[in-house]
Amino acid sequence: MGETIIKIEHLYKTFGSGDGQVKALQDICLDIEKGEIFGIIGLSGAGKSTLVRCINLLERPTSGKVTVNDQELTALKAKDLRRARRGMSMIFQGFNLLMQRTALENICFPLELSGLKGEKGWRKKRAMELLELVGLPDKADAYPVQLSGGQKQRVAIARSLAEYPQPQVLLCDEATSALDPTTTQSILDLLKKINRELGVTVVVITHEMRVVEQICDRVAVLDQGVIQEQGAVSDIFSNPRTEAGRRLVMPSGEKIHVLPANRLVRLVFNGAAASEPIISSLAIEQGIRLNIISADTRTIGDKTFGTMVLGLPQDETEAARALIYAREIPGVTAEEVTEYVQ
Ligand SMILES: Nc1ncnc2c1ncn2[C@@H]1O[C@H](COP(=O)(O)OP(=O)(O)OP(=O)(O)O)[C@@H](O)[C@H]1O
Ligand SMILES: [Mg+2]
Repeated sequence: MGETIIKIEHLYKTFGSGDGQVKALQDICLDIEKGEIFGIIGLSGAGKSTLVRCINLLERPTSGKVTVNDQELTALKAKDLRRARRGMSMIFQGFNLLMQRTALENICFPLELSGLKGEKGWRKKRAMELLELVGLPDKADAYPVQLSGGQKQRVAIARSLAEYPQPQVLLCDEATSALDPTTTQSILDLLKKINRELGVTVVVITHEMRVVEQICDRVAVLDQGVIQEQGAVSDIFSNPRTEAGRRLVMPSGEKIHVLPANRLVRLVFNGAAASEPIISSLAIEQGIRLNIISADTRTIGDKTFGTMVLGLPQDETEAARALIYAREIPGVTAEEVTEYVQ
């Protein structure tokens, strides 16, 4: 056993109260070792994002302890917590780049934010080094709209490492889920390189088995807010001991459906108005017919949370219209995906 860098003890996270209560995480215990790539895998709604947000305390656990680098984050005051958090950074499915800034300026941003005294020249030099590390030295002056998804994620990765001193932990929440298989592979290779060469501990949250299989040392299976099993990837993948583990790990053809003929869009409802009116207004006002392929939404009060995968119409123009419309719904994030997990 190596040295523990992230220790989670009996962590619970509950949202809301009464009838609408959601027990998103229950009695989570995890030890993540320094220098490893640790995977957390689970179906949509399992609690993965909530867990990762509890690791850096973007979300405050309802109870339980989170210790990172021997510092108990759950016991820290706001100011100390801010400092401790700088040792961890995060990348997302949607890249979260600032659209008005070039790649280089995006990477400089954390350094500016942390009020680092260093000269502008120094910040730029460091940002350039990071752009080289992620293989985009010629894209310094490009704006995010001029970059492909894979390139945007590379810039986001460079930015995640820009903080000084360099973060020791990189949390990845579905970082490759919006990318095609080839681009996914290249991003996974980059994460591996960062792990090996810079010694950064990487936590990978995903619903994609392939991702875990390819880069993780160990994995935890999260199902309905509970860790069902955890261990070496080779063990869990060859011999899952729980029903949830089996459901996830079984030959991918059984669970993962790829519909090459149809483009898919994944809507994440983050407190949007009820989902039915949204879908029907797409159909009625826009005349766009969509297939609901999977839905895992929950309505609390008059708000909807969760995700839904829709099949876009075959017609290119209609599909594009549907995407534009979906992206404009308040409280909804819409992203095109190439597969979904049932
Ligand atoms: N702010 C919130 N308020 C209420 N419920 C929430 C909130 N955030 C998450 N939940 C609920 O907690 C559960 C876990 O959600 P979470 O986003 O962590 O799942 P996930 O595994 O990341 O799913 P996905 O793969 O779709 O991203 C879901 O039932 C979700 O609806
Ligand atoms: Mg999530």
